[in-house]
Amino acid sequence: MGKRSAPARDCNKRVLITGAAGFSGSSLARRLLASGYTVTGLDVAPPGHACLLRREMSNPGFRYLWKGLQDIQPKDVEGHSVVAHLAAQADAPMAFESPRYTVMQNIEGAVALLEAARQTDCVSKLIFAASGNEIGRAAYLPIDEAHPLTPHNPYGFSKAAAEMALWAWRLSYGTPAVVMTSGVVVGPNMRREVFIFKWLWNALHGQPIVVEGGRQTRDLSFIDDVIAGWMLAIKAPAEKVVGHKFFIGSGEEHTVEDLAKICRDAAGSAAPIEYVGYRPGEEGHREAFSLEKAQRELGYAPKVSPREAVALTAGWVRSLL
Ligand SMILES: NC(=O)c1ccc[n+]([C@@H]2O[C@H](COP(=O)([O-])OP(=O)(O)OC[C@H]3O[C@@H](n4cnc5c(N)ncnc54)[C@H](O)[C@@H]3O)[C@@H](O)[C@H]2O)c1
Repeated sequence: MGKRSAPARDCNKRVLITGAAGFSGSSLARRLLASGYTVTGLDVAPPGHACLLRREMSNPGFRYLWKGLQDIQPKDVEGHSVVAHLAAQADAPMAFESPRYTVMQNIEGAVALLEAARQTDCVSKLIFAASGNEIGRAAYLPIDEAHPLTPHNPYGFSKAAAEMALWAWRLSYGTPAVVMTSGVVVGPNMRREVFIFKWLWNALHGQPIVVEGGRQTRDLSFIDDVIAGWMLAIKAPAEKVVGHKFFIGSGEEHTVEDLAKICRDAAGSAAPIEYVGYRPGEEGHREAFSLEKAQRELGYAPKVSPREAVALTAGWVRSLL
């Protein structure tokens, strides 16, 4: 990206989404297409398994690029004004079992993308989906953009390292890095491995809700609000967002125990809540984001409270029964 100044005209409104077949990537693709953007969706998932993109596959504004991010080439990035980097091994519990695989996907993938992007002319923003797990051990609340990265699990480490790669490439090569950090994102089509899905599923089946620990906290937000935040960053003038990090959550702190009760209420269930030990590193995890910068600079204002987000998600989970 050394030669980049303003993006060439034919790059405008063309977005490359990595991880497009996933929960967030497919939601972003839908929103972009509805807003008149042209979208390339890169994902390692075979096209026939990319169920969340079923409708988008036949949209003339959408192209599916089936490949692993580690093999991305400059020609795959060329022609896009924005790269939305969402591809990741996104499951924190899975990363305890497979830390090397997680590191390979999340760090090598990010570096491959950064290397491909810096050999192109068009990209005016390369936006990374960061995670609250990168902070892990909050030194103060609410967590703001100046907070150091202090991950306490292999997933958080892999995401923190990927974020640091973006900032390093920015300093070395002027890569137009932007970081958008969320906590727990829920909504229709969310990953079924995430605790909120499992609890809703169990509650709706009258099965116990199993809570690991309970006093640790999370900033939980609804997918539509997070995607609205991404759209604001995508549409913003590059000079306003490049080199910046934004927190796009709910700004509310809830204990995991409290979230379990919210899930039970949303399911209208009397399922018992059972407690087991904390996941490694989880005890003491606190998460509540300051939305002040995202509000001031992007106009970000979440519309859905965590309680409403869980209720809306419960409606979708019920439809799967
Ligand atoms: N969902 C959340 O609660 C949450 C919160 C904060 C940050 N994030 C981040 O947002 C992003 C999207 O999360 P999600 O919940 O939509 O996850 P997801 O698992 O639904 O989607 C990730 C997609 O990336 C693809 N992928 C993984 N490795 C790849 C590779 N090497 N090459 C190509 N494709 C690859 C997967 O096939 C999948 O379709 C991730 O980067 C995640 O770390 C998610």
